[in-house]
Amino acid sequence: MPLYSEEIIQQVREANDIVDVIGSYVTLQKKGSSYFGLCPFHGEKTPSFSVNQREQFFYCFGCHTGGNVITFIMKIENMTFPEALKYLADRAHIDLPEAEVSEEEKKRIHRRERLLSAAKETARFYYYQLTRTPQGKRGLEYLDQRQVTEEYRRKFGLGYSPVSRDMLFKYLSSKGYTTEEMLAAGLVSGREGAVFDRFFNRVMFPIFDTQGRPIAFGGRIMGQGEPKYLNSPDSELFNKRYNLYGLSIAKRSRRDFLMMVEGYMDVLSLHQAGYDNAVASLGTALTSQQALLMKRYTDKVILCYDSDRPGTQAARRAIPILKGAGLDVKVMQVPSGKDPDEFIKDNGAQALEDVIKAALDPVDFELKIQMRDNGDSVDGQIQTLKGMEENLAGIQNDLEREIHIKDVAAKLKLPEETLRKEVENIRQSTGLLEYRARRAQDREETRQALDKQADAAGTLLAALIYHPEVWPSVRTYISMEDFPDKEEDHFHHQAAGYVLGCLDKGKEPVFADLVSCFDKVEDQEAAFSIRDYKVPDDKGELAKFLEQNIISIKNRQIEEDTQSDDIDRQVRAVRLKKELRDLKIYL
Ligand code: UTP
Ligand code: MN
Repeated sequence: MPLYSEEIIQQVREANDIVDVIGSYVTLQKKGSSYFGLCPFHGEKTPSFSVNQREQFFYCFGCHTGGNVITFIMKIENMTFPEALKYLADRAHIDLPEAEVSEEEKKRIHRRERLLSAAKETARFYYYQLTRTPQGKRGLEYLDQRQVTEEYRRKFGLGYSPVSRDMLFKYLSSKGYTTEEMLAAGLVSGREGAVFDRFFNRVMFPIFDTQGRPIAFGGRIMGQGEPKYLNSPDSELFNKRYNLYGLSIAKRSRRDFLMMVEGYMDVLSLHQAGYDNAVASLGTALTSQQALLMKRYTDKVILCYDSDRPGTQAARRAIPILKGAGLDVKVMQVPSGKDPDEFIKDNGAQALEDVIKAALDPVDFELKIQMRDNGDSVDGQIQTLKGMEENLAGIQNDLEREIHIKDVAAKLKLPEETLRKEVENIRQSTGLLEYRARRAQDREETRQALDKQADAAGTLLAALIYHPEVWPSVRTYISMEDFPDKEEDHFHHQAAGYVLGCLDKGKEPVFADLVSCFDKVEDQEAAFSIRDYKVPDDKGELAKFLEQNIISIKNRQIEEDTQSDDIDRQVRAVRLKKELRDLKIYL
């Protein structure tokens, strides 16, 4: 929840005309009712960045970034919500009142500070164990053997977890942390009364948030053993989908791209070799949240995964995710199946510069793998061609696709026209949506179900904002109960809170205020993108549309309730099913 009242946020927004503010960063030209300019958030040569003065919004048709004046400042200046608000308030000579903090908010902040400081103490503890104790010698020897220098050991705060069941637990207890706090921060394992240290006899890599505060740990076993790396669990402080190892340092790099590698050690040796722009995802496949996180600091990512099969697969999966976040992507391949760490050790840092220069465009990368995997028999060539047709069909931008069609045709020594026809056939027969759906098969099913539900929730909210007049006909079916506050989906809960809140008070919800309900850029963008959902205007169609979306939201609830072993929820499922059968909306 924002620290400032809706009124003050609105006051600051109104005092900063979006055309004025953006005009000082981007040259804008008036065209019809909007202003246009070159998008500052992605590279382009023809203006697709629009600013709407009446609605006080900006939107880029190229990279789909959009939001209000606060979002713009957050993105362009890389600021948090309160920082951007302060900045705009200063610009308009408005004195911001002390942040209004509710009791609940105060508690939340205090709790977070406690857990963060427990994690910091833990990092100190491991560091001390590594550098100051006889036990730690084993860790130091291991790091020496891997040629990590003292400077970089310090820079990354590396440590050592001793062979013990409860040294960390005792240490944190002596510092006044409760068992509950240690468990909530993921620093120890077990449960109240039966707690034990999660890590022992491992070299410890603290994982920092973007502000450089430790929020979790990775631990590498010394020598052989399973698992090789053990990570902190997701906790109140840490969600591995939202963090990247090394980013707190890499975000200050002078290089204008980030290098994405697989492991902790790769990050370390790259940094040590002068590539202070290396980051790694944390033992998971790259997530869209991580891609958006990178987009806050750069426009370009070079994937630098191992050239073995899992590494290649990981790169293939990462490409659409990174492109989806508006990032320019290249793929570099370290020769002879080495990881970057090994490559640097064997060939030196300078040699890596050439590998970076030779990084491939994603289409060329795909072509290279297809040719390698399929071989050059006639059958193999046909396979390669099919694979490339699919790949090319997936390029959304017409111009980009055209350039690659020309290029691939030349490389496969095929008539360009034939390839183009095949690619267009695929695009038409499958349609864009289906194509995306097929791509999504890679993702877990649960995620898909979640997206679908989120989609219905977002669509319904869009319909309510565009057509607040339907509320009296819909309110009997929809309440906050249909937007539960789930860990994976706070967003729709919060958005619904605003929209339904307005409607209940007889006020019309507006997008600008919806965006201001959120203080994270990702959420603001999500709020903004609700605006893109197509909502029919025709009454009959709209009624049907509302019914369909309400049905999808409730179906999901029914599914979950049915699977639950809670008898109350099973009863609710039956009730909801009956309600759905009778659902009819008249406008
Ligand atoms: P690798 O096994 O390639 O790690 O796993 P590495 O960094 O090259 O390891 P070294 O060089 O042998 O020390 C890549 C990454 O996958 C995650 C870690 O994040 C690791 O850095 N991983 C790997 C785990 O989380 N658990 C494991 O058991 C193994
Ligand atoms: Mn390695």
